[in-house]
Amino acid sequence: MAAVRLQQISKSYGSNQVLQGIDLQVHDGEFMVFVGPSGCGKSTLLRMIAGLEDISAGQLYINDALANDLPAAKRGLAMVFQSYALYPHMSVYDNMAFSLSLSKMSKADIDAAVQHAAGILQMSHLLQRKPRDLSGGQRQRVAIGRAIVRKPGLFLFDEPLSNLDASLRVQMRIELSKLHRDLRATMIYVTHDQVEAMTLGQRIAVFNGGKIEQVGVPLELYDKPANLFVAGFLGSPKMNILKARVVHSSANECELQLASGTHIKTGIDSSNLQAGDEVSLGIRAEHVLLASQTKEQTNQLEVCISFVEHLGDAAIVYATIAGEENLFAIKLPADTSDQYPGAELCIQLPAQRCHVFDSKSVALGR
Ligand SMILES: Nc1ncnc2c1ncn2[C@@H]1O[C@H](COP(=O)(O)OP(=O)(O)OP(=O)(O)O)[C@@H](O)[C@H]1O
Ligand SMILES: [Mg+2]
Repeated sequence: MAAVRLQQISKSYGSNQVLQGIDLQVHDGEFMVFVGPSGCGKSTLLRMIAGLEDISAGQLYINDALANDLPAAKRGLAMVFQSYALYPHMSVYDNMAFSLSLSKMSKADIDAAVQHAAGILQMSHLLQRKPRDLSGGQRQRVAIGRAIVRKPGLFLFDEPLSNLDASLRVQMRIELSKLHRDLRATMIYVTHDQVEAMTLGQRIAVFNGGKIEQVGVPLELYDKPANLFVAGFLGSPKMNILKARVVHSSANECELQLASGTHIKTGIDSSNLQAGDEVSLGIRAEHVLLASQTKEQTNQLEVCISFVEHLGDAAIVYATIAGEENLFAIKLPADTSDQYPGAELCIQLPAQRCHVFDSKSVALGR
């Protein structure tokens, strides 16, 4: 097993700085996910931990030992990439045994390691096949098997499931979680898919533009995003964000006025704000209520339905609000036959579900 500590890690390609002062501790045995939009530096950081990329500044510790200049082969880790890059002319068995045979391990030990990994991945019956005779999911499992046989304390995954179709991804997600439980190894997993991040990670680090925006357990990030970026990145549909002005601020209340003139009361500590300050009000689609569903008379507003997405188990209603550019999403039970484009709807925003972000996009505490 292995713990990883990043201290003020930076990376530049020429004058282009792609990672800036990354501080992060990955605990021994933890499943940590790096998530963020394309180009934010996730793969670069993973490759730096792997020893495939130089560290421009800062310190990388693996098990409390400085590892900046440690050769990749001595870091006790194995990496699995999006492209599985199996040797096409070799059987599954030989693909998995290859790195061990280079290390001059005995045939019996290699066999034990390959059989053990194949057992964990439920592919003992596929060992004599060639990669071309496998499905995408099975090939990806061989790539993971190649990592497992080396018994690393640290697994690094860079978008290993993105070549798979949707249902295989779900299946492989479950298998990876099981693998983590069985091997008890530390895993760092890179993805730009927020669902993968939420379902796989024990903790998630959200990256944006070469920096970490927030680190925490999945529901903490979902329920208490530290800023507008994290609020918008995790969750589908995206959290609704409305421009607002502070009307009244205090330690246990923040009353806002929307562009339409509607007043919204939130139970958020806004003692750092003053009347007139510009803020953003956030609320998730599943937290919006129909006025007819609640006795609450405050925080109500009129919206006009633009279109409805029927997901089977639920429906997402997209509506316009006076004075707002963006559509407002409302998640309702599947049976919403009375919600049709053009219809008016009265909705209620529960005060305890509202998020408020200041003019610098930082979330206010409750
Ligand atoms: N060898 C390189 N030379 C110059 N710039 C590079 C190099 N490798 C990566 N970059 C730049 O560094 C930034 C981060 O790239 P990186 O591959 O880490 O992003 P990512 O978060 O993994 O994105 P994706 O989700 O698309 O894989 C990008 O702007 C990329 O263009
Ligand atoms: Mg990448």
